[in-house]
Amino acid sequence: MKNKKAERARPVRAVFLVGFMGAGKTSVGQALGSHLGWPFEDLDDRVQRREGRSIEQIFRESGEAAFRHAEHAALREILSELGTSCRIIALGGGAFVQANNADLLKKSRIPTVFLDGPVEELFERCQRQQLERPLRSDIDEFRRLYRARYPHYQAASLRIDTGGKGVESVAAEVVAALGLGPAKSPGKNKS
Ligand code: S3P
Repeated sequence: MKNKKAERARPVRAVFLVGFMGAGKTSVGQALGSHLGWPFEDLDDRVQRREGRSIEQIFRESGEAAFRHAEHAALREILSELGTSCRIIALGGGAFVQANNADLLKKSRIPTVFLDGPVEELFERCQRQQLERPLRSDIDEFRRLYRARYPHYQAASLRIDTGGKGVESVAAEVVAALGLGPAKSPGKNKS
């Protein structure tokens, strides 16, 4: 018989960060990784490496469906490598919206953390970053996509509001919420 208490008490060894474009998944993931001493990986980087093409090229040359296929394969690969190793993984903004990815992650029982924030702030962050994002267009379309995806993100194990917060303090909240150890908090110098 399965011991539910023991299952819940399983130590967290990996964390998946999910959320819309501009949510800070990569920067928070890097901060978390360096805080915990765990390797950080971006799913989009894995996709690009496996495909030998940039995300923008995959969309342009092969379309979104091909990108989603490659993204799913990359996620499977990461999950198959995890074992008991520790890792922080940032997913691309559409990955957790795909039922096949969400199902895989649910079965893995690895915590998924939804980094949320006001859509205008996410849009501004994307504009500042000036990264190639094939699915980022004007604010109306951005907002429409955000709203359509929102219910999917809510299926994550944890939601953290990033609105108006810095990367380090969001990372500290994730650490505290998942019980991963004392978080370094900017401005606070506790001994
Ligand atoms: C996408 C977000 C991107 C990247 C791809 C598709 C999306 O990742 O995976 O351009 O569907 O929202 P970021 O969320 O890191 O920008």
